[in-house]
Amino acid sequence: MSCPFGKSNNGQVTEDEEGDTGSGLSYGEYLQLDKLLSSQQCESDKHGKEIHDEHLFIIVHQVYELWFKQILHEIDSIRQLLSSVPFDESKQLIVNRRTSRVVAIMKICVEQIHILETMTALDFSDFRDYLAPASGFQSYQFRLLENKLGIKPDWRVSYAQKNYADVHQAGIHKVLTKSEQEESLLTLVEKWLERTPGLEESGFCFWKKFTRSVESLLRDIKRNAEEAETQKEREAFEKEYKDTQESYSTILDENIHNTKVARGERRLSHKAWQGALLISFYREQLRFSQPFQFLNLLMDLDSLLMKWRANHVQLVQRMLGNKPGTGGSSGYLYLRSTVSDRYKVFLDLFNLSSFLLPREYIPPLTIRMKSRLSISEGPIETVLSLEQLRVQHSN
Ligand code: HEM
Repeated sequence: MSCPFGKSNNGQVTEDEEGDTGSGLSYGEYLQLDKLLSSQQCESDKHGKEIHDEHLFIIVHQVYELWFKQILHEIDSIRQLLSSVPFDESKQLIVNRRTSRVVAIMKICVEQIHILETMTALDFSDFRDYLAPASGFQSYQFRLLENKLGIKPDWRVSYAQKNYADVHQAGIHKVLTKSEQEESLLTLVEKWLERTPGLEESGFCFWKKFTRSVESLLRDIKRNAEEAETQKEREAFEKEYKDTQESYSTILDENIHNTKVARGERRLSHKAWQGALLISFYREQLRFSQPFQFLNLLMDLDSLLMKWRANHVQLVQRMLGNKPGTGGSSGYLYLRSTVSDRYKVFLDLFNLSSFLLPREYIPPLTIRMKSRLSISEGPIETVLSLEQLRVQHSN
């Protein structure tokens, strides 16, 4: 077999590359294929039964675990980059690239579950008893992922009064508890948003301007109500006024916001909300365009995790109906309850849209703020190579 790692000799396969016996590193050795490809041990085989579909069941789960491993690798590096204060803005491109990589992997994870739908419920029942009490519930990488993203223990849906981590031995239990205590991606994003340039009271003071714009919007709706020609029109404007005032008060009044945080309806601090709104309003400015993309990627990630949960629960209903899971939960009903906003880590970013002002009410940037947003702070990350410069010149 030819080596795919670029060592080929003008496309010719050399003897060393072809076999595993040469002096160089072979494909199989590099990828440790002996271990990887001997890790599909069908329980049905051990019971003297040859059940065709168990092989697929194992492979699909193993591929998931490999992707979870890669996602954790990326999330850890993103968390590390974001944890430096102040954040080196030239690193935003790397953060975005790695987050979009996680999003690309998650898209595969969402689709991949359908492969298991080629197995019928009866085929599954042929080997299901052999694997009990093993369950996806025990996937510690999935739990690590949830914790590192920012899911808190008390947001979780519990069953039989059990803690999700209790299904693991002491070593993994410790790793999971530690991951609950570390700064999650959500916490790091929150702190990063709180430092958004333009929030300082001494400078552009975005929040004061935003508050004034909301007041102006409300005044205009009130005037529309006063000037309405028909009773029906007036009532519609009065309702719009009441709804708008009520909605904006939840963000303008920090106490109301904090009550929502305490109730678990919002996750980010009041200051972080201000930063997220500021970035969303002025996303066309050079310094905010990459942060804005980052916020969108975080929503993509959350949406895809939700789609994975939804696809998984559909698969489970198809395979088990209402039967309990091998991990001891009610199965379908338990899993259905996890397809909800309580598992949406970046919930606040989705709800940001409730407070986006119509364009004409967005506070204009001052000249000073505009120039502040036209350059990013920190070294330029991408330096063109001499070769790239030559190509640009010759074009
Ligand atoms: C025939 C296919 C599958 C069936 C019937 C199935 C069934 C279940 C059931 C019933 C549960 C609830 C816990 C329990 O009582 O066991 C569960 C949880 C879980 N499964 Fe699956 N599953 C399947 C495929 C997969 C695949 C391919 C993955 C990929 C890694 C996976 C990952 C998980 C995870 C992470 C949980 C925990 C979810 C949570 O608690 O939020 N499952 N599964």
